[in-house]
Amino acid sequence: MKRIGIIGLGCVGQGLIDYLEQQPQLPYYVQGIAIKQGHKKRKHTTIPITMAVRTLIDDPAIDIIVEVIDDAEAAYGIAKATLLAGKELVTANKKMVALYLSELLELQDTAGKRILFEAAVGGSIPILSLLDGYYRDEPLTRIRGILNGTSNYVLTKIFNDKMDYPRALRQAQQKGYAESDPTNDVSGKDAWYKTKLLAYQAYGTDLALDSIFHYGIQQLTPDDVQYARSKNQRIKLTPLIVPTPSGLVAWVVPHFIDGSDPFFSIDNEYNCIQLDGQFLGQQHITGKGAGAWPTASALIADLQRLSQAAQHGSGNAPLDPLDTSAISIEVYIRGPQLLQNSAAVFEDVSEGYMDDHLHYLIGFVRLDRLIAQKPTLEKQACMVIATGRYRLQNKAGDSTSTAVLKKSAMVAIV
Ligand SMILES: NC(=O)c1ccc[n+]([C@@H]2O[C@H](COP(=O)([O-])OP(=O)(O)OC[C@H]3O[C@@H](n4cnc5c(N)ncnc54)[C@H](OP(=O)(O)O)[C@@H]3O)[C@@H](O)[C@H]2O)c1
Repeated sequence: MKRIGIIGLGCVGQGLIDYLEQQPQLPYYVQGIAIKQGHKKRKHTTIPITMAVRTLIDDPAIDIIVEVIDDAEAAYGIAKATLLAGKELVTANKKMVALYLSELLELQDTAGKRILFEAAVGGSIPILSLLDGYYRDEPLTRIRGILNGTSNYVLTKIFNDKMDYPRALRQAQQKGYAESDPTNDVSGKDAWYKTKLLAYQAYGTDLALDSIFHYGIQQLTPDDVQYARSKNQRIKLTPLIVPTPSGLVAWVVPHFIDGSDPFFSIDNEYNCIQLDGQFLGQQHITGKGAGAWPTASALIADLQRLSQAAQHGSGNAPLDPLDTSAISIEVYIRGPQLLQNSAAVFEDVSEGYMDDHLHYLIGFVRLDRLIAQKPTLEKQACMVIATGRYRLQNKAGDSTSTAVLKKSAMVAIV
Protein backbone atom coordinates (compact mmCIF):
# COMPACT_ATOMS: atom_id res chain seq x y z
CA MET A 1 0.00 0.00 0.00
CA LYS A 2 1.41 3.41 -1.02
CA ARG A 3 0.55 6.38 1.15
CA ILE A 4 -0.18 9.57 -0.73
CA GLY A 5 -0.72 13.21 0.16
CA ILE A 6 -2.92 15.27 -2.15
CA ILE A 7 -2.28 19.00 -2.44
CA GLY A 8 -5.28 20.81 -3.97
CA LEU A 9 -8.94 19.87 -3.68
CA GLY A 10 -10.54 21.66 -6.61
CA CYS A 11 -11.92 20.07 -9.75
CA VAL A 12 -9.04 17.62 -10.25
CA GLY A 13 -8.29 16.92 -6.58
CA GLN A 14 -11.94 16.04 -5.94
CA GLY A 15 -11.94 13.90 -9.10
CA LEU A 16 -9.01 11.93 -7.69
CA ILE A 17 -10.76 11.44 -4.34
CA ASP A 18 -13.90 10.23 -6.18
CA TYR A 19 -11.81 7.78 -8.21
CA LEU A 20 -10.08 6.34 -5.14
CA GLU A 21 -13.35 6.11 -3.18
CA GLN A 22 -15.00 4.23 -6.03
CA GLN A 23 -12.01 1.93 -6.54
CA PRO A 24 -11.13 0.97 -2.94
CA GLN A 25 -9.16 -2.09 -4.07
CA LEU A 26 -6.36 0.15 -5.42
CA PRO A 27 -3.15 0.09 -3.37
CA TYR A 28 -3.27 3.80 -2.40
CA TYR A 29 -4.13 5.25 0.98
CA VAL A 30 -4.72 9.01 1.17
CA GLN A 31 -2.95 10.14 4.31
CA GLY A 32 -4.02 13.77 4.03
CA ILE A 33 -5.18 16.60 1.79
CA ALA A 34 -3.82 20.16 1.76
CA ILE A 35 -5.86 23.14 0.58
CA LYS A 36 -5.45 26.91 0.59
CA GLN A 37 -8.69 28.36 1.95
CA GLY A 38 -10.18 26.89 5.09
CA HIS A 39 -13.58 28.55 4.79
CA LYS A 40 -14.64 26.92 1.49
CA LYS A 41 -17.59 24.52 1.48
CA ARG A 42 -16.46 21.09 0.29
CA LYS A 43 -17.83 17.63 -0.31
CA HIS A 44 -17.66 15.61 2.91
CA THR A 45 -14.57 13.44 3.37
CA THR A 46 -13.11 11.53 6.30
CA ILE A 47 -9.57 12.22 5.07
CA PRO A 48 -7.78 14.83 7.27
CA ILE A 49 -7.56 18.24 5.57
CA THR A 50 -4.87 20.79 6.39
CA MET A 51 -3.87 24.24 5.21
CA ALA A 52 -0.24 23.51 6.12
CA VAL A 53 1.11 21.99 2.90
CA ARG A 54 4.48 21.37 4.47
CA THR A 55 3.05 18.92 7.02
CA LEU A 56 2.21 16.55 4.17
CA ILE A 57 5.57 16.98 2.47
CA ASP A 58 7.40 16.36 5.77
CA ASP A 59 5.19 13.46 6.89
CA PRO A 60 7.49 10.40 6.91
CA ALA A 61 4.50 8.12 6.38
CA ILE A 62 3.79 9.64 2.94
CA ASP A 63 5.56 8.17 -0.10
CA ILE A 64 4.05 10.21 -2.94
CA ILE A 65 2.69 13.76 -3.21
CA VAL A 66 0.01 14.44 -5.83
CA GLU A 67 0.01 18.16 -6.57
CA VAL A 68 -3.15 19.48 -8.23
CA ILE A 69 -3.22 23.19 -7.44
CA ASP A 70 -3.84 26.08 -9.80
CA ASP A 71 -0.79 28.21 -8.92
CA ALA A 72 2.37 27.45 -10.92
CA GLU A 73 4.80 29.28 -8.63
CA ALA A 74 3.47 27.64 -5.46
CA ALA A 75 3.42 24.32 -7.30
CA TYR A 76 7.11 24.67 -8.17
CA GLY A 77 7.89 25.25 -4.50
CA ILE A 78 5.91 22.12 -3.64
CA ALA A 79 7.67 20.09 -6.36
CA LYS A 80 11.10 21.16 -5.14
CA ALA A 81 10.32 20.50 -1.48
CA THR A 82 8.76 17.12 -2.31
CA LEU A 83 11.71 15.80 -4.30
CA LEU A 84 14.22 17.13 -1.78
CA ALA A 85 12.22 15.45 1.00
CA GLY A 86 12.84 12.16 -0.79
CA LYS A 87 9.29 11.70 -2.09
CA GLU A 88 7.98 11.18 -5.59
CA LEU A 89 5.66 13.68 -7.24
CA VAL A 90 2.70 13.37 -9.58
CA THR A 91 1.38 16.65 -10.96
CA ALA A 92 -1.25 17.89 -13.40
CA ASN A 93 0.29 21.37 -13.59
CA LYS A 94 1.38 21.92 -17.21
CA LYS A 95 2.35 25.53 -16.62
CA MET A 96 4.63 24.69 -13.70
CA VAL A 97 6.34 21.81 -15.51
CA ALA A 98 6.72 23.80 -18.75
CA LEU A 99 8.18 26.84 -16.94
CA TYR A 100 10.55 24.84 -14.75
CA LEU A 101 11.29 21.71 -16.78
CA SER A 102 15.10 21.97 -16.71
CA GLU A 103 15.15 22.74 -12.96
CA LEU A 104 12.81 19.82 -12.28
CA LEU A 105 14.92 17.41 -14.31
CA GLU A 106 18.01 18.49 -12.39
CA LEU A 107 16.20 18.12 -9.07
CA GLN A 108 15.03 14.68 -10.11
CA ASP A 109 18.63 13.64 -10.70
CA THR A 110 19.89 15.23 -7.48
CA ALA A 111 17.14 13.74 -5.33
CA GLY A 112 16.95 10.41 -7.14
CA LYS A 113 13.15 10.70 -7.04
CA ARG A 114 10.74 10.94 -9.95
CA ILE A 115 8.17 13.45 -11.12
CA LEU A 116 5.45 12.32 -13.52
CA PHE A 117 2.99 14.63 -15.28
CA GLU A 118 0.78 12.60 -17.62
CA ALA A 119 -2.31 14.55 -16.51
CA ALA A 120 -0.69 17.79 -17.69
CA VAL A 121 -0.93 16.86 -21.39
CA GLY A 122 -4.09 15.69 -23.12
CA GLY A 123 -6.09 14.86 -19.96
CA SER A 124 -7.09 11.22 -20.21
CA ILE A 125 -4.98 10.51 -23.33
CA PRO A 126 -1.99 8.42 -22.17
CA ILE A 127 0.40 10.15 -24.53
CA LEU A 128 3.42 10.66 -22.28
CA SER A 129 3.50 7.06 -21.11
CA LEU A 130 3.05 5.87 -24.70
CA LEU A 131 6.01 7.99 -25.78
CA ASP A 132 8.02 6.93 -22.76
CA GLY A 133 7.26 3.24 -23.20
CA TYR A 134 5.64 1.82 -26.30
CA TYR A 135 7.05 4.37 -28.77
CA ARG A 136 10.29 5.05 -26.97
CA ASP A 137 12.47 3.86 -29.85
CA GLU A 138 10.19 4.86 -32.74
CA PRO A 139 11.71 7.63 -34.91
CA LEU A 140 8.76 10.03 -34.85
CA THR A 141 8.61 12.18 -37.96
CA ARG A 142 5.94 14.58 -36.72
CA ILE A 143 3.45 15.18 -33.91
CA ARG A 144 0.22 17.18 -34.28
CA GLY A 145 -2.49 17.69 -31.74
CA ILE A 146 -5.68 19.25 -30.59
CA LEU A 147 -4.63 19.86 -27.02
CA ASN A 148 -7.05 22.42 -25.66
CA GLY A 149 -10.63 21.34 -25.01
CA THR A 150 -11.99 24.83 -24.44
CA SER A 151 -10.88 26.30 -27.76
CA ASN A 152 -11.92 23.12 -29.56
CA TYR A 153 -15.37 23.41 -27.99
CA VAL A 154 -15.65 27.06 -29.03
CA LEU A 155 -14.49 26.33 -32.61
CA THR A 156 -16.89 23.37 -32.83
CA LYS A 157 -19.85 25.54 -31.83
CA ILE A 158 -18.80 28.22 -34.32
CA PHE A 159 -18.40 25.81 -37.24
CA ASN A 160 -21.02 23.14 -36.50
CA ASP A 161 -23.74 25.23 -34.84
CA LYS A 162 -23.03 28.63 -36.42
CA MET A 163 -22.67 30.34 -33.03
CA ASP A 164 -20.69 33.52 -32.74
CA TYR A 165 -17.46 33.53 -30.73
CA PRO A 166 -18.76 35.27 -27.54
CA ARG A 167 -21.78 32.96 -27.30
CA ALA A 168 -19.69 29.84 -27.94
CA LEU A 169 -17.23 30.87 -25.22
CA ARG A 170 -20.08 31.62 -22.78
CA GLN A 171 -21.50 28.17 -23.44
CA ALA A 172 -18.08 26.56 -22.84
CA GLN A 173 -17.97 28.36 -19.48
CA GLN A 174 -21.54 27.33 -18.58
CA LYS A 175 -20.73 23.70 -19.35
CA GLY A 176 -17.62 23.89 -17.19
CA TYR A 177 -15.13 23.39 -20.06
CA ALA A 178 -13.70 26.89 -19.75
CA GLU A 179 -12.56 28.60 -16.57
CA SER A 180 -14.19 31.89 -15.53
CA ASP A 181 -11.02 33.47 -16.94
CA PRO A 182 -10.46 31.46 -20.14
CA THR A 183 -7.49 33.55 -21.37
CA ASN A 184 -4.93 30.74 -21.10
CA ASP A 185 -7.11 28.47 -23.23
CA VAL A 186 -8.16 30.83 -26.03
CA SER A 187 -4.77 32.59 -26.23
CA GLY A 188 -3.09 29.27 -27.05
CA LYS A 189 -1.00 29.39 -23.85
CA ASP A 190 -2.40 26.18 -22.40
CA ALA A 191 -1.58 24.28 -25.61
CA TRP A 192 1.81 26.05 -25.71
CA TYR A 193 2.82 24.61 -22.32
CA LYS A 194 1.60 21.16 -23.34
CA THR A 195 3.48 21.33 -26.65
CA LYS A 196 6.75 21.95 -24.86
CA LEU A 197 6.17 18.90 -22.62
CA LEU A 198 5.18 16.72 -25.57
CA ALA A 199 8.29 17.79 -27.51
CA TYR A 200 10.44 16.91 -24.53
CA GLN A 201 8.91 13.51 -24.01
CA ALA A 202 9.01 12.61 -27.70
CA TYR A 203 12.40 14.00 -28.70
CA GLY A 204 14.31 14.64 -25.46
CA THR A 205 14.54 18.32 -26.45
CA ASP A 206 13.90 21.07 -23.91
CA LEU A 207 12.59 23.72 -26.35
CA ALA A 208 12.60 27.25 -24.93
CA LEU A 209 9.00 28.43 -24.61
CA ASP A 210 9.81 31.67 -26.44
CA SER A 211 11.04 29.67 -29.45
CA ILE A 212 7.58 28.09 -29.82
CA PHE A 213 5.36 30.55 -31.71
CA HIS A 214 1.85 30.47 -30.28
CA TYR A 215 -1.28 32.26 -31.39
CA GLY A 216 -4.79 31.71 -30.12
CA ILE A 217 -8.34 32.09 -31.36
CA GLN A 218 -9.23 35.32 -29.53
CA GLN A 219 -9.01 37.41 -32.69
CA LEU A 220 -11.22 35.11 -34.77
CA THR A 221 -13.97 37.02 -36.63
CA PRO A 222 -16.89 35.92 -38.82
CA ASP A 223 -14.73 36.88 -41.85
CA ASP A 224 -12.14 34.24 -40.95
CA VAL A 225 -14.87 31.68 -40.41
CA GLN A 226 -16.46 32.63 -43.72
CA TYR A 227 -13.09 32.30 -45.50
CA ALA A 228 -12.60 28.77 -44.10
CA ARG A 229 -16.18 27.80 -44.97
CA SER A 230 -15.73 29.03 -48.54
CA LYS A 231 -12.95 26.43 -48.90
CA ASN A 232 -15.00 23.73 -47.09
CA GLN A 233 -12.56 23.90 -44.22
CA ARG A 234 -12.76 24.27 -40.46
CA ILE A 235 -10.30 25.88 -38.08
CA LYS A 236 -8.66 23.96 -35.23
CA LEU A 237 -6.03 25.18 -32.78
CA THR A 238 -3.31 22.71 -33.67
CA PRO A 239 0.19 22.45 -32.24
CA LEU A 240 2.82 20.95 -34.55
CA ILE A 241 6.17 19.47 -33.51
CA VAL A 242 8.54 18.84 -36.39
CA PRO A 243 11.97 17.21 -36.33
CA THR A 244 14.13 18.49 -39.20
CA PRO A 245 17.65 17.46 -40.19
CA SER A 246 18.88 20.60 -38.41
CA GLY A 247 16.88 20.31 -35.22
CA LEU A 248 13.48 20.30 -33.59
CA VAL A 249 10.89 23.04 -33.98
CA ALA A 250 7.30 23.54 -32.82
CA TRP A 251 4.48 26.04 -33.18
CA VAL A 252 0.94 26.34 -31.84
CA VAL A 253 -1.39 28.07 -34.28
CA PRO A 254 -4.99 27.74 -35.46
CA HIS A 255 -4.91 25.72 -38.70
CA PHE A 256 -7.25 25.38 -41.65
CA ILE A 257 -8.38 21.75 -41.65
CA ASP A 258 -10.16 20.10 -44.56
CA GLY A 259 -12.60 17.20 -44.59
CA SER A 260 -9.94 14.57 -45.32
CA ASP A 261 -8.05 15.43 -42.13
CA PRO A 262 -8.91 13.25 -39.10
CA PHE A 263 -8.90 16.42 -36.96
CA PHE A 264 -11.89 17.74 -38.98
CA SER A 265 -14.35 15.84 -36.84
CA ILE A 266 -12.61 15.95 -33.45
CA ASP A 267 -15.28 18.04 -31.80
CA ASN A 268 -16.27 19.75 -28.58
CA GLU A 269 -14.03 19.21 -25.55
CA TYR A 270 -12.18 16.26 -27.11
CA ASN A 271 -8.43 16.26 -27.66
CA CYS A 272 -6.55 14.27 -30.27
CA ILE A 273 -2.88 13.57 -30.82
CA GLN A 274 -1.50 12.40 -34.15
CA LEU A 275 1.82 10.60 -34.21
CA ASP A 276 3.66 10.02 -37.48
CA GLY A 277 6.48 7.55 -37.22
CA GLN A 278 8.99 6.09 -39.63
CA PHE A 279 7.86 2.55 -38.77
CA LEU A 280 4.49 2.93 -37.09
CA GLY A 281 2.87 4.93 -39.90
CA GLN A 282 0.25 7.20 -38.46
CA GLN A 283 -1.74 6.95 -35.26
CA HIS A 284 -4.48 9.10 -33.74
CA ILE A 285 -5.36 8.94 -30.08
CA THR A 286 -8.53 10.72 -29.04
CA GLY A 287 -10.04 11.32 -25.62
CA LYS A 288 -11.27 13.83 -23.11
CA GLY A 289 -8.59 16.44 -22.62
CA ALA A 290 -9.83 17.76 -19.30
CA GLY A 291 -12.42 17.32 -16.58
CA ALA A 292 -12.28 15.95 -13.05
CA TRP A 293 -12.53 12.23 -13.79
CA PRO A 294 -10.54 11.98 -17.05
CA THR A 295 -7.71 13.93 -15.39
CA ALA A 296 -7.94 11.75 -12.27
CA SER A 297 -7.59 8.74 -14.54
CA ALA A 298 -4.23 10.09 -15.78
CA LEU A 299 -3.08 10.76 -12.20
CA ILE A 300 -3.89 7.19 -11.23
CA ALA A 301 -1.94 5.94 -14.26
CA ASP A 302 1.08 7.95 -13.08
CA LEU A 303 0.77 6.56 -9.54
CA GLN A 304 0.83 3.13 -11.06
CA ARG A 305 3.74 4.04 -13.36
CA LEU A 306 5.85 5.19 -10.41
CA SER A 307 6.19 1.55 -9.45
CA GLN A 308 7.75 0.81 -12.85
CA ALA A 309 11.15 1.81 -14.15
CA ALA A 310 10.04 4.70 -16.35
CA GLN A 311 12.26 7.42 -17.74
CA HIS A 312 11.61 10.69 -19.49
CA GLY A 313 12.75 11.49 -22.98
CA SER A 314 13.08 9.42 -26.09
CA GLY A 315 15.11 6.30 -26.67
CA ASN A 316 16.52 8.08 -29.73
CA ALA A 317 19.35 10.60 -29.47
CA PRO A 318 17.96 13.97 -28.31
CA LEU A 319 17.58 16.58 -31.05
CA ASP A 320 18.91 20.12 -30.76
CA PRO A 321 16.38 22.93 -31.01
CA LEU A 322 16.12 24.30 -34.56
CA ASP A 323 17.01 27.96 -35.10
CA THR A 324 13.58 29.50 -35.76
CA SER A 325 15.01 31.59 -38.61
CA ALA A 326 15.61 28.34 -40.48
CA ILE A 327 11.96 27.49 -41.12
CA SER A 328 8.99 29.28 -42.64
CA ILE A 329 5.35 28.41 -42.27
CA GLU A 330 2.51 29.39 -44.59
CA VAL A 331 -0.11 31.53 -42.86
CA TYR A 332 -3.23 33.51 -43.55
CA ILE A 333 -3.04 36.82 -41.74
CA ARG A 334 -6.15 38.98 -41.60
CA GLY A 335 -5.84 42.41 -40.15
CA PRO A 336 -6.33 46.12 -40.63
CA GLN A 337 -3.00 47.41 -41.93
CA LEU A 338 -1.37 44.34 -43.26
CA LEU A 339 -0.45 45.33 -46.75
CA GLN A 340 1.60 48.28 -45.50
CA ASN A 341 3.65 45.99 -43.26
CA SER A 342 3.63 42.90 -45.41
CA ALA A 343 7.18 43.17 -46.76
CA ALA A 344 8.50 43.06 -43.19
CA VAL A 345 6.58 39.90 -42.49
CA PHE A 346 5.99 37.78 -45.60
CA GLU A 347 8.66 36.11 -47.75
CA ASP A 348 6.18 35.72 -50.55
CA VAL A 349 2.45 36.10 -50.92
CA SER A 350 0.33 33.56 -52.77
CA GLU A 351 -3.06 35.15 -52.16
CA GLY A 352 -4.34 38.47 -50.93
CA TYR A 353 -7.57 40.39 -50.69
CA MET A 354 -8.45 43.91 -49.69
CA ASP A 355 -11.65 45.92 -49.65
CA ASP A 356 -13.03 48.49 -47.22
CA HIS A 357 -14.09 45.76 -44.90
CA LEU A 358 -11.73 42.78 -45.29
CA HIS A 359 -7.97 42.59 -45.63
CA TYR A 360 -5.93 39.38 -45.66
CA LEU A 361 -2.77 37.86 -47.11
CA ILE A 362 -1.55 34.28 -47.40
CA GLY A 363 2.14 33.50 -47.72
CA PHE A 364 5.22 32.04 -46.11
CA VAL A 365 6.63 33.79 -43.04
CA ARG A 366 9.85 32.90 -41.22
CA LEU A 367 9.06 31.57 -37.76
CA ASP A 368 11.44 33.99 -35.99
CA ARG A 369 9.64 36.89 -37.70
CA LEU A 370 6.26 35.59 -36.61
CA ILE A 371 7.57 35.35 -33.05
CA ALA A 372 8.91 38.92 -33.25
CA GLN A 373 5.68 40.24 -34.82
CA LYS A 374 3.34 38.51 -32.35
CA PRO A 375 2.80 41.56 -30.08
CA THR A 376 2.04 43.76 -33.11
CA LEU A 377 -0.27 41.18 -34.64
CA GLU A 378 -2.17 40.90 -31.37
CA LYS A 379 -2.29 44.67 -30.89
CA GLN A 380 -3.75 45.10 -34.36
CA ALA A 381 -6.30 42.32 -33.67
CA CYS A 382 -4.92 40.29 -36.58
CA MET A 383 -5.95 36.66 -36.96
CA VAL A 384 -3.22 34.16 -37.86
CA ILE A 385 -4.18 30.77 -39.29
CA ALA A 386 -1.68 28.28 -40.69
CA THR A 387 -2.34 26.29 -43.84
CA GLY A 388 -0.27 23.31 -42.69
CA ARG A 389 2.57 23.94 -45.19
CA TYR A 390 6.09 24.71 -44.01
CA ARG A 391 9.57 24.74 -45.52
CA LEU A 392 13.17 24.88 -44.41
CA GLN A 393 15.50 27.68 -45.47
CA ASN A 394 18.52 26.76 -47.52
CA LYS A 395 21.95 27.74 -46.26
CA ALA A 396 21.79 31.16 -47.95
CA GLY A 397 18.70 31.92 -45.89
CA ASP A 398 16.55 31.88 -49.02
CA SER A 399 13.57 29.62 -48.70
CA THR A 400 12.27 29.93 -52.25
CA SER A 401 14.29 26.97 -53.53
CA THR A 402 13.54 24.69 -50.61
CA ALA A 403 11.17 21.79 -50.64
CA VAL A 404 7.89 21.77 -48.80
CA LEU A 405 8.18 19.26 -46.01
CA LYS A 406 5.48 16.73 -45.34
CA LYS A 407 3.32 16.95 -48.39
CA SER A 408 0.68 14.98 -46.51
CA ALA A 409 0.14 17.98 -44.29
CA MET A 410 -0.54 20.36 -47.18
CA VAL A 411 -3.86 22.10 -47.41
CA ALA A 412 -4.65 23.47 -50.85
CA ILE A 413 -5.24 27.21 -50.89
CA VAL A 414 -6.28 28.31 -54.34
N1 LIG B 1 -9.50 21.08 -14.51
C1 LIG B 1 -9.04 20.25 -15.44
O1 LIG B 1 -9.80 19.65 -16.20
C2 LIG B 1 -7.57 20.04 -15.55
C3 LIG B 1 -7.09 19.13 -16.52
C4 LIG B 1 -5.72 18.88 -16.62
C5 LIG B 1 -4.85 19.56 -15.76
N2 LIG B 1 -5.36 20.45 -14.86
C6 LIG B 1 -4.41 21.12 -13.97
O2 LIG B 1 -4.65 20.65 -12.65
C7 LIG B 1 -4.38 21.69 -11.70
C8 LIG B 1 -5.61 21.89 -10.83
O3 LIG B 1 -6.69 22.29 -11.64
P1 LIG B 1 -8.17 22.42 -11.06
O4 LIG B 1 -9.05 22.63 -12.22
O5 LIG B 1 -8.46 21.29 -10.14
O6 LIG B 1 -8.08 23.77 -10.22
P2 LIG B 1 -9.12 24.36 -9.19
O7 LIG B 1 -10.45 23.69 -9.34
O8 LIG B 1 -9.06 25.83 -9.30
O9 LIG B 1 -8.56 23.90 -7.75
C9 LIG B 1 -7.32 24.35 -7.30
C10 LIG B 1 -7.08 23.80 -5.92
O10 LIG B 1 -5.75 24.16 -5.55
C11 LIG B 1 -5.78 24.63 -4.20
N3 LIG B 1 -4.65 25.54 -4.02
C12 LIG B 1 -4.29 26.62 -4.74
N4 LIG B 1 -3.14 27.15 -4.29
C13 LIG B 1 -2.76 26.37 -3.25
C14 LIG B 1 -1.67 26.40 -2.36
N5 LIG B 1 -0.71 27.33 -2.45
N6 LIG B 1 -1.60 25.44 -1.41
C15 LIG B 1 -2.55 24.49 -1.27
N7 LIG B 1 -3.62 24.41 -2.11
C16 LIG B 1 -3.71 25.34 -3.07
C17 LIG B 1 -7.10 25.33 -4.07
O11 LIG B 1 -7.42 25.40 -2.69
P3 LIG B 1 -8.79 25.97 -2.16
O12 LIG B 1 -9.82 24.92 -2.53
O13 LIG B 1 -8.61 26.07 -0.71
O14 LIG B 1 -9.02 27.27 -2.86
C18 LIG B 1 -8.00 24.37 -4.85
O15 LIG B 1 -8.46 23.34 -4.02
C19 LIG B 1 -3.98 22.91 -12.52
O16 LIG B 1 -2.59 22.95 -12.63
C20 LIG B 1 -4.58 22.63 -13.90
O17 LIG B 1 -3.87 23.25 -14.93
C21 LIG B 1 -6.69 20.70 -14.74
